[in-house]
Amino acid sequence: MSEEQHKAEHRSRPDSPAFRAFVAADWAPRRAGTTESSPVAPYAAQRRAAVSAAFPGERLVVPAGGLKVRSNDCDYVFRPHSAFAHLTGLGADREPDAVLVLEPVDGGGHEAVLFFRPLAGRDTEEFFGDSRYGEFWVGARPSLADVEAELGLTARHIDEFKDAVAKDAGHIGIRIVRDADRDLTADLDEVRADVRETDEASESAAQAEADEELARFLSVMRMVKDEWEVEEMRKAVNATAVGFEAVIADLPEAVARGRGERWVEGVFGLHARHQGNGVGYDSICASGDHANTLHWIKNTGDVKEGDLILLDAGVEVDSLFTADITRTLPVSGEFSEAQRKVYDAVHAAADAGMAAVKPGNKFSDVHDAAIRVIAEHLHEWGLLPEGVDVEATLDKETGQYHRRWMVHGTSHHLGIDVHDCALALREDYMDAELKPGMILTVEPGLYFKADDLLVPEEMRGIGVRIEDDVLVTEDGHENLSAGMPRSSAEVEAWIARVQQR
Ligand code: GLY
Ligand code: MN
Ligand code: MN
Repeated sequence: MSEEQHKAEHRSRPDSPAFRAFVAADWAPRRAGTTESSPVAPYAAQRRAAVSAAFPGERLVVPAGGLKVRSNDCDYVFRPHSAFAHLTGLGADREPDAVLVLEPVDGGGHEAVLFFRPLAGRDTEEFFGDSRYGEFWVGARPSLADVEAELGLTARHIDEFKDAVAKDAGHIGIRIVRDADRDLTADLDEVRADVRETDEASESAAQAEADEELARFLSVMRMVKDEWEVEEMRKAVNATAVGFEAVIADLPEAVARGRGERWVEGVFGLHARHQGNGVGYDSICASGDHANTLHWIKNTGDVKEGDLILLDAGVEVDSLFTADITRTLPVSGEFSEAQRKVYDAVHAAADAGMAAVKPGNKFSDVHDAAIRVIAEHLHEWGLLPEGVDVEATLDKETGQYHRRWMVHGTSHHLGIDVHDCALALREDYMDAELKPGMILTVEPGLYFKADDLLVPEEMRGIGVRIEDDVLVTEDGHENLSAGMPRSSAEVEAWIARVQQR
């Protein structure tokens, strides 16, 4: 370190040769050859084979992404890009800056090469001096051999990536998942621009479109889950049920402490972090009128006796698969008459939506079935405008008045991302047929804001959503979250049992 650098640094690290030699010596040998093959490895290989078949002869670049600064020298917890996680099988916080390259090989197919930053030797500055990557600071990373054994692919040092990705750039098609790592994408754009024969904007737009096509393919291919993924989803749902029960047990504490929504968030988060990687999205802990704000994640409110609390939360397990479940609970253990009326309507809509989850039905049929029940109740309660009946409000062009009270859709695909497969086109999502292995949410709701003058006074300030995670099976569906009570009577019994009333 120069004298100038030394002055500019308020922390200094010893770097004399004597210290370097001292810190590098007398460590037990590393345990080599002990890493076992991961159970996800064969599934990830199958996924890569599908990608390989779709893009023959092209180099495909799927970055994990890099660390993001939170402030100064502190980073956010790393989460790999979902496409990278899916194609490698790596989850949790693995591996910042890594890049999966599917390299076309002569004779067809691709070789999977994972470039990453392997464990550094104890004789390096990184070992003790690098607070972002060093073993002293963030723990030991795997070696190249470890990752090869774990994942069954070729592992190479990240320092070799730049040359490897640029090799034969003029002769080979190269695509990258653009949103995973902006710096790396900009570098590759330059490489590709340099070898282009013209620098017309249309060529760079065509390249970006080719990249988008890869990203869309990788997003859509996650729609039908393999058996390993379904198992991960079961784990996520079961872990989420544990978190919900812990919240129910602690509701009296949430009431007593004030700012109870934060207490609920913390209790669920504790279990999410304990059992899995964390929460799959920021928990919505919405008591009273806050339930009418669809993505209420501030969670600053009190939890009051007599109110409902809408808890929309999911545990993300280490593989990054997440549940997404909502239950709306009466804080005092029993629904009031008005709360039950709204709750039972939403429950009927949820049952109708769930019944539509079966192969051959379209994805949008689930929403259509649920929203019809919502519309019927709103009509029966006299809330739709004068002269607008159920069919009229369901008309997609001229109706939709019911959306004042349920503006969101009933379902989305669920998996590594809470809103999974988000790059799919309408024809592959909304208008597509449901197939065995898909997992989607069914989550109708009714939201009557406290200041909604169209709603009878006793219903104002009541917001209800019921959300389940549903697997499409060969002959229908399986509600993965069926173990968590859903009807108003079952929810009351659940609270009584957990709180041992
Ligand atoms: N938790 C967000 C959603 O239900 O889609
Ligand atoms: Mn949700
Ligand atoms: Mn959802």
